[in-house]
Amino acid sequence: LTSPLIDRFGRVVNYLRVSVTDRCDFRCVYCMSETMQFLPRAHILTLEEIQFICQTFVELGVTKIRITGGEPLVRQGVLGLLQELGRLPGLNELVMTTNGSRLAQMADQIKAAGVKRLNISLDTLDAAKFKAITRTGDIEQVLMGINAARTAGFNKIKLNAVILKNRNHHEVTDLVQFAVDKELDISFIEEMPLGVIDEHQRSECYYPSHLIKSDLQNRFELNAVTDSTGGPSSYFKVQDSHTRVGFISPHSANFCSTCNRVRLTAEGRLLLCLGNEDSVDLKAVVRAYPGDMDRLKQTIIAAMQIKPEKHTFNIHEQAIIMRHMSATGG
Ligand code: GTP
Ligand code: 5AD
Ligand code: SF4
Repeated sequence: LTSPLIDRFGRVVNYLRVSVTDRCDFRCVYCMSETMQFLPRAHILTLEEIQFICQTFVELGVTKIRITGGEPLVRQGVLGLLQELGRLPGLNELVMTTNGSRLAQMADQIKAAGVKRLNISLDTLDAAKFKAITRTGDIEQVLMGINAARTAGFNKIKLNAVILKNRNHHEVTDLVQFAVDKELDISFIEEMPLGVIDEHQRSECYYPSHLIKSDLQNRFELNAVTDSTGGPSSYFKVQDSHTRVGFISPHSANFCSTCNRVRLTAEGRLLLCLGNEDSVDLKAVVRAYPGDMDRLKQTIIAAMQIKPEKHTFNIHEQAIIMRHMSATGG
């Protein structure tokens, strides 16, 4: 059976990323401005609408769904949604990306709902820097969350670190050592110019993956691995450890040719690419024709025709994409 979700470049879409809220309890400097206007409740998909859209995607061949935000765990009722999605036949992988602030309380329930893997953001191990980068975050809470997640027994936990020159680039070796000690994976991410942030010039903070890699090679033996999670990271195994190090390099190593994913924003737009504004309004369809799955399927299949070949991020220019990462789901 060939998948109905195939784009003009022959790429099969089997991975849906779902932002369940644009809200977050942190204000990371690369993600948000200090004062953010969040979407009014009525503009946001209900949990039932999200569930219906996810079920439709699974029937269309999607096998992996990642729940993101904003911070997904601040959405009221998210555990109920996870339980519903965890029961969908055909969905092999229900995974989540979180800032970790609520994991100490919620990790066990998230695991019980059927979430297989967690990605947790951690850009620094230094409490003061953590406060400076997240503005409102508390590193102790996140470290407790990471420990709770380890105890809960997820298949795999991955840390995400956005590396900014002269902010946290000196810490990459310590972050990998932390990951090795805790038997976690870790990905390093080049900052993407999404939305207007006021805190720094993105071009001045650009720190390419190859510099991180050469820093790491002073301390660790890195061996390339070929298997992938179906995400954009290219991975290396840290020798004599359980840890893999990934590099997400939108600027220095474009990964769009193997793209397998689309995104559902908190307000119900289907975004065909993170670095592009082309989208289809699925909320309009589910609100005009509640329960009409065939119509929704046709809309989603047709949307594959406008998936662009690649993103057009340019770190040296002003952000042309006004949408913040928090509304997009990373
Ligand atoms: P797995 O591979 O399943 O572990 O997930 P992931 O690394 O794709 O997901 P995660 O939510 O942890 O995202 C890490 C970073 O990768 C975020 O900054 C995302 O915005 C970025 N990312 C994920 N998919 C894409 C993509 O298609 N394009 C771009 N430019 N960035 C992406
Ligand atoms: N560029 C790159 N990564 C970002 N994230 C948030 N905003 C940006 C950005 N502008 C990261 C978060 C989280 C992941 C989902 O996306 O740190 O780890
Ligand atoms: Fe929140 Fe994640 Fe954005 Fe930080 S990067 S403000 S944790 S959504």
